[in-house]
Amino acid sequence: MSDQEKKVIFSGVQPSGKMTLGNYLGALKSWTKLQHEFECYFSMVNMHAITVPQDPEVLKRQTIELLAQFIACGIDPDLNTIFIQSHVREHAELNWVLCTMTYMGELNRMTQYKDKSKKSEANLNAGLFTYPVLMAADILLYQTDVVPVGDDQKQHLELARDLAIRFNNKYPGTFVVPEGYYPKETARVMSLQEPEKKMSKSDSNENAFILLAEDSDTTVKKIKKAVTDSVGVVNYSDDQPGLKNLINIYSAVTEKSVEEIVAMYAGKGYGAFKGEMAEAVVESLRPIREKYAYLLENRDYLEGIYTRGAEKAEIRAGKTLRDVYEKIGFIPRKF
Ligand code: AMP
Ligand code: TRP
Repeated sequence: MSDQEKKVIFSGVQPSGKMTLGNYLGALKSWTKLQHEFECYFSMVNMHAITVPQDPEVLKRQTIELLAQFIACGIDPDLNTIFIQSHVREHAELNWVLCTMTYMGELNRMTQYKDKSKKSEANLNAGLFTYPVLMAADILLYQTDVVPVGDDQKQHLELARDLAIRFNNKYPGTFVVPEGYYPKETARVMSLQEPEKKMSKSDSNENAFILLAEDSDTTVKKIKKAVTDSVGVVNYSDDQPGLKNLINIYSAVTEKSVEEIVAMYAGKGYGAFKGEMAEAVVESLRPIREKYAYLLENRDYLEGIYTRGAEKAEIRAGKTLRDVYEKIGFIPRKF
């Protein structure tokens, strides 16, 4: 299929820290399957990252590390457009236009904003509030058909759809209305310490998450410390949320079904289960970890990828923005 016939995917990840097993299973792993069927745009969304305080040097480093992790996880830079959000000015420009069409009430309802604003009451900035509008701009600029994200992003995606429809009602045929794509079992990888919470790299307890860039021994230790329960039987049940999460992870990294895994551990304790589960996680991450370390030593190669990515992204984004500007009555520059 030529690129023109393929449907378009856009997704973004914040370079705001190390990537977790949750990001990998909930996002990147499914992208590697989609890259063959779709024309994909993947962005390191550094403009979203600055809605919370960042150290400039750390932000730069993490942006490069994220790119290396994308590629190490199997996102092929020859098949996909991988770029840094701030390199394509159209994101900020469309964000502004869409801000003027978004209701305060819509943004007030966003659960992620409510959560984040509770955490940083002293430093509430307007960017945090309008964050979902920038995300809508990211998506709509590329005439995106499908947005693969974790299910924590559903509400933001709904806003992108609403804005596309609202804009199209006024100015027909401007945007493709995007669909969300949520991988099933692993749509949400939970914390190893508090399985009712999602696994997040910003968790204050390091044992709660597994990082792609940590060493294997650390991963094994964290899994051994993972919270389970006192039932003592390997069941897949909502009453055993810790175990349920570990089974989901096990299933995702081995492609074995939940039923198979439960059957494998009939009559065995949590120790045996955790030992083999940890081994499976470590083995599945090993090639990714090796490739990541190798890529970080090859800065020129990474620079080439994000440079070409921005050039390609700009072409598609520019076309949409010119159309939007024309429709809303902005006079085009003549030079
Ligand atoms: P973030 O790290 O929050 O920028 O998220 C990047 C991508 O990974 C998004 O698509 C998230 O929905 C997804 N993601 C993050 N944490 C998890 C998790 N614990 N389980 C599943 N998906 C996740
Ligand atoms: N808000 C998303 C997250 O935190 C990241 C993101 C920014 C994104 N722009 C996007 C995801 C566009 C999908 C599409 O996970």
